[in-house]
Amino acid sequence: MRIGSVLRPVAAGALLATIAPALHAQARRPAVERQIDSILATMTLEEKLGQLNLLSVDRRASPQDLELVRQGRVGGFLNLHGAEAVREAQRVAIEESRLKIPLLLGLDVIHGYRTVFPIPLAEAGTWNPELAEAAARVAAREAAAAGVNWTFAPMVDLARDARWGRIAEGSGEDPYLGSVMAAARVRGFQGPGRDAPIGPDRLLATAKHFAAYGAAEAGRDYNTVDVSERTLREIYLPPFQAAVDAGVGSIMTAFNEIAGVPATGNAWLLKDVLRREWRFRGLVVSDWTSVGELVAHGVAGSRAEAGRLALQAGTDMDMVSRIYVDELAPLVRRGTVPLALVDSAVRRVLRVKFRLGLFRDPYRGVDPERERATLLAPEHRALAREAARQAIVLLKNEGGVLPLPAQGRTIAVIGPLAHDRLEPLGPWHTDGRREDVVTVLEGIRRRAASATVLHAGGAGVLDTATAGFAEAVETARRADVAVLVLGEKHDMSGEAASRAEIGLPGVQQQLLEAVAATGKPVVLLLMNGRPLALPWAAERVPAIVETWFLGTETGNAVADILFGDVSPSGKLPVSFPRAVGQAPIYYNHKNTGRPPSAERFTSKYLDVPVTPLWPFGHGLSYTTFAYSELEVSPARLGPRDTVRIRVRVRNTGSRDGTEVVQLYVRDEVATVTRPVRELKGFRRVPLAAGESAVVEFRLTRADLAFYGLDLRRRVEPGTFRVFVGPSSVEGLEGSFVVTP
Ligand code: NOJ
Repeated sequence: MRIGSVLRPVAAGALLATIAPALHAQARRPAVERQIDSILATMTLEEKLGQLNLLSVDRRASPQDLELVRQGRVGGFLNLHGAEAVREAQRVAIEESRLKIPLLLGLDVIHGYRTVFPIPLAEAGTWNPELAEAAARVAAREAAAAGVNWTFAPMVDLARDARWGRIAEGSGEDPYLGSVMAAARVRGFQGPGRDAPIGPDRLLATAKHFAAYGAAEAGRDYNTVDVSERTLREIYLPPFQAAVDAGVGSIMTAFNEIAGVPATGNAWLLKDVLRREWRFRGLVVSDWTSVGELVAHGVAGSRAEAGRLALQAGTDMDMVSRIYVDELAPLVRRGTVPLALVDSAVRRVLRVKFRLGLFRDPYRGVDPERERATLLAPEHRALAREAARQAIVLLKNEGGVLPLPAQGRTIAVIGPLAHDRLEPLGPWHTDGRREDVVTVLEGIRRRAASATVLHAGGAGVLDTATAGFAEAVETARRADVAVLVLGEKHDMSGEAASRAEIGLPGVQQQLLEAVAATGKPVVLLLMNGRPLALPWAAERVPAIVETWFLGTETGNAVADILFGDVSPSGKLPVSFPRAVGQAPIYYNHKNTGRPPSAERFTSKYLDVPVTPLWPFGHGLSYTTFAYSELEVSPARLGPRDTVRIRVRVRNTGSRDGTEVVQLYVRDEVATVTRPVRELKGFRRVPLAAGESAVVEFRLTRADLAFYGLDLRRRVEPGTFRVFVGPSSVEGLEGSFVVTP
C-alpha cells in the first residue's frame, strides 16, 4: 500500500486511535475467549453447525456415529457412557477429526448413576439441601468415572398437579424449597462458582425444562401451558434463576408452549429473561427433538424454518432433531440466518467444553479401573441410605403401631412391591441395577432377624386378578402385624407417564381392604412417584409411610425407620389430594373473593372438601415437637431493617428426632392478590428427647417482594402475618408491619 508521506503520520495516528482500544480490549479478553476466537476462525460453516448437533446413541457410538465425529458433524452425544466407550469416541474426536474438538457427553443422571438415590421429589422431602448437594456430588463422581461430562439435571420444574408423571423428577410445588434444592444440586454436580472450572469428577449441570413444563394443562405431559407472566415469574421461574445464580452451565428448553409461544422458539424467555435479566452465559440446549417439534406446534412450516426460529430465539444446541446440522447451512449462506448467530452458539458450546477442561484432557482421567473403583463405593451406598431415611415421610401413625418391635413378633410383608428389585429404583435410574437393590423384605429380614417374617405377593402392581389374595390374607392372619407395600411401577412416573386416576393401580386397593379386614394392624408402605389420592387408607389404615422410590438402599432405609432406629423426619414437598378432581392443588393458593365456608356460594366442591388429604410440609415423627415463645421483632420494618423471627421448639416425646421448622408469611393487603401463605425459610433441627432449641429466621424487605401491577418487584407497606410451625397449615402466628 502506498501512503503519501504527508498523510502518513495522520493516517497512522488515526489508525492507532481506532485499533489501540481494540487491541487493548483483545489483550484483556480472557484467554479462553481468545482461544475460542482462533478455533472459530479456522472452522468451516459445516463444522460450526456440527458443534451444535447433539445426537443420541445406545451406550456406544456406532461406526456411523464415529464417522460423523471424524467429519466434525457432531458436538456431543447423549446416552454414551462407560469408560471404554467414552475413550473410544473421544479418541476419534481428538485424533481423527480435523479440528480435534472433544465431545460433550450428556446423560440423564437424575438421582444417581450406579448408586441410585431417592427420586428428586423424595429427596426434596428431606428439606436438607446439604444432603441433596452431597447426593448430586456422588452422582457426579460416579457418572464422571463412567466418562459422562454433562448431566441433564437438576430438573427444577415446579409441579402442582399429581397427574403429571414428571412431578417425580422435581422438588414439588414450592418455589422457595425448589430454589434452595436447585442451587444445592447445581453445586453438587458442578462444584461452586458461576464460571468456575468443572473438575474431572464433576459434571456440567443442566437446569430444565425452561420453562413452566410443570404447568401442562390437566397434568398431561407435553400439553399446552398458559400462565400469566406474574405466575411465571413468581412460581415457575425462581428455581431456574437460583440455578443460574449457583452457576449452572446449561439450560434445557421445554417441550411446551407458553401462551402461544413454544419454549424452544421463545426469544423472550431465552434472551430477555435468561440472558439479559439473569446474565446467563452458558449453553442452551433443546429438549429431545423439540426443535423439530416447532413444526407440529404450528409455528414453523418446515424443518429449516424450525431450525431458524429456534436458533434465533436462543437455542444453541439441537438435541436429536439434526435440523441445525442438516438444514441451516444454506440459510446462512443465503443470509437468512446471520453467521454471527451461529458463531455465538458455537462459542457457548466451546466455552462449556473449556470449562470442563476437555481441551486439556478430553478423557478427564477416565479408565475402566477408576470406573470399577468408583461405582457403588461403600460410602456412596451409605449416603444413599442416609438420604433414603431422611426422605421417608410418616403420613399417619395412630395407636403407636410404629415403630415395630424387632423381636418376638411375626411380621407379614405383603404386596407386589415388597420384594421387587426393579421398581424401587424409580424413573430415570440411569445405570442402577436390580441386583444392587435391597428390597423391603430383605431390609426387614436383616434388621428383624429374631422376628418371624412371612411374605406374600398378593397381586402384581397392575394386576386385575385377585387369585393371590387368599394367600396374602392367610399370611396376614398368621402374623401380629401386616406391612403392605403398595404403589406404582417405576415407569408410571417420569416422562410420558401422566395418569388420569391417581389411586392405587390394579387391584391393590382391594388387596389392602382384604388384608385390613383381617383386623390385624396394618402398616401401609407406599412406593410411588407422585402424590396418590388415598382417602380410604387415610381413614382406615392406622399407619401410612410414604417411601416414594428410595433407590438402591430402599430396604435398609425402610427397616431403619420401621423399627425405630431412626425417627422419621421427612416432610411432604407437595400436597396430597383427596381426589384427583382437586388437581391442581397447592398450599400457596390465593384466597379468592369467596374463600370456602359453610355458606353455599363459596369456592368449594359439593362432594369433597377443598383441603388436601395431607398438606405441603406435613410429616410426623416417633416423637412430638412443641412450638412456643414466638418473637417477631422489630414490629415495624423500615427500609433497611431485617425482621428477626424466633421460636422455641421442644422435643416433648421420649425419642430423639429431627423437626423441620417452617416459616411462612402472608401479605395481608397488596395491589395484587397474594397467596394465603408463602414459605420463606426452613431449618432441620435435631433434638434429643426432652431437648429444646431456639430457631431464628431473618427476613429483609427483599424477601417480601412480589411482582406488582407493572410486573416489577416491589414491597408494599402494610401488615405481614408470620407462621412458624411443622407444616403449611399449622404453627404459631405473629405479625409485623412494613413501613412506607
Ligand atoms: C427428554 C426429556 O424431556 C429430558 O428431560 C431428557 O433430558 C431428554 N429426553 C434426554 O434424555
